[in-house]
Amino acid sequence: MHKSGYMPLIEALQKNKKRNTVPFHMPGHKKGQGIHHSFARLMKTAPFALDVTELPGLDDLHNPAGPIKESQMRAARVFGADRTFFLINGSTVGIHAALLSVCRRGEEVLLPRDMHRSVIGACILGGLKPRYLPVQLDPEYLVPYPPATEEITAMLQRYPKIRAIFQVYPSYYGLAGKMLEVAEVAHRCNIPLIVDEAHGAHFVFTDELPQTALQSGADISIQSTHKTLGAFTQASMLHVKSKIVDYSTIARQLGILQSTSPSYLLMASLDAVTGHMEVSGKHLMDNSLRIARYIREQIKEIPGIKCFGESVSGLSSMIAVDPTKIYISLSNLGLSGYQAAEILLKKHRIQVELCDRFCILCMLSIGSSFDDADRLVNALTDIASKAIPVYGKPIMPGPVNIPSPRVILNPEEAWFAPLRQVLLKEAVGEVAGELIAPYPPGIPLLCPGEMITNEIVDLICELKAWDCMFHGFSDPAMLTIKVVDRF
Ligand SMILES: Cc1ncc(COP(=O)(O)O)c(C=O)c1O
Repeated sequence: MHKSGYMPLIEALQKNKKRNTVPFHMPGHKKGQGIHHSFARLMKTAPFALDVTELPGLDDLHNPAGPIKESQMRAARVFGADRTFFLINGSTVGIHAALLSVCRRGEEVLLPRDMHRSVIGACILGGLKPRYLPVQLDPEYLVPYPPATEEITAMLQRYPKIRAIFQVYPSYYGLAGKMLEVAEVAHRCNIPLIVDEAHGAHFVFTDELPQTALQSGADISIQSTHKTLGAFTQASMLHVKSKIVDYSTIARQLGILQSTSPSYLLMASLDAVTGHMEVSGKHLMDNSLRIARYIREQIKEIPGIKCFGESVSGLSSMIAVDPTKIYISLSNLGLSGYQAAEILLKKHRIQVELCDRFCILCMLSIGSSFDDADRLVNALTDIASKAIPVYGKPIMPGPVNIPSPRVILNPEEAWFAPLRQVLLKEAVGEVAGELIAPYPPGIPLLCPGEMITNEIVDLICELKAWDCMFHGFSDPAMLTIKVVDRF
């Protein structure tokens, strides 16, 4: 029994702070290292004084006419949009609003199957029918490649009722496809291209990375300013530059999706990041790319450790890999990503962004430093020096990890259908009523309405055995799953 007044979350946060880890994870401000000093000072001295509501002179996110309007207009200029909307529920709410703005109930949308789970949320809210592009995985690292333009064209010919193309650019792993071509295809069919650019808010500040989605011709881009730049977690932006999207519809959808008490701390962080990056963006990006390339060069010298390259040649769909996303494999040392992440945390006090069966993902940003880079390189060198006999046999890649299950019902139909709970092991042949996604990265293994197969059940069980975290199970023990009662 805890005594009254116990604050479990505060305690957990204090404990985490005391660990004093090196941050190779989101948010991009890296414990404040990547924000402008004036905003940092203000947050240290007066966070409560800044946490206000729509007081005189402070404007209203839902009807902006003062400083919020001005700040959004400046953000539009800096990020290359005609109009920018501040988001206070992450890119998730932007993805919802974007899809609800361009499709009507029952309409079809073209999606990559390795999309973030928020896209299925939008399909549920809007009654949309997903048409999935097949996913091709890198044979060595098993990360999803961006869809080839020919696949997109073929799908549009096969399903002429598709009302919008939705793409992820760059992906969680930093892979960036040929968005210019995709935008051309979309506009030839007179349909909008919506881009989940959650991981690409920094692209606009350097010529060393591919063009942004909007520069490539996308109609709407949704960016998690908190992931790769310095905004507070949840603070994101939706940018529009389009001849075919009605801007007022986006405002209308955001009006019902966003809180009527938007946090001024989150909005102020968007304002601060935009001002900071407008002035120093190029310099900050140069520095973060230099650090990323330094780490990549150093890793090449460590026996048994390798990382996903900066580009994949010969693949028509891909143009680049963001160097700041370093996806590292220690499997030749006999270590899974889960084991490597644990050693890095416990022995070296380094926190990675993601670990999976084969790799760890280390994420750099404008808040990263060469000291952080050296800590990582030294830790990896130390791990490699205790090679195979200590850690075990090399880990061989297992089965493909993004299944493409048969879609039996649309996400909305399955989500609102009568459901029953069955043992996961007995669910093969049933239709999923839940959205099951390992987190991070939040790419669904199963969407509501999809047929549950042996392959998926085995994969979920295997990931559970590795202590992988999941979103979506209503059963906290993850032994049962909700399936559609009759279909
Ligand atoms: C590719 C992708 N899209 C969208 C999102 C949702 O972004 P947010 O966390 O800002 O809501 C994420 C989050 O991890 C993501 O990885």
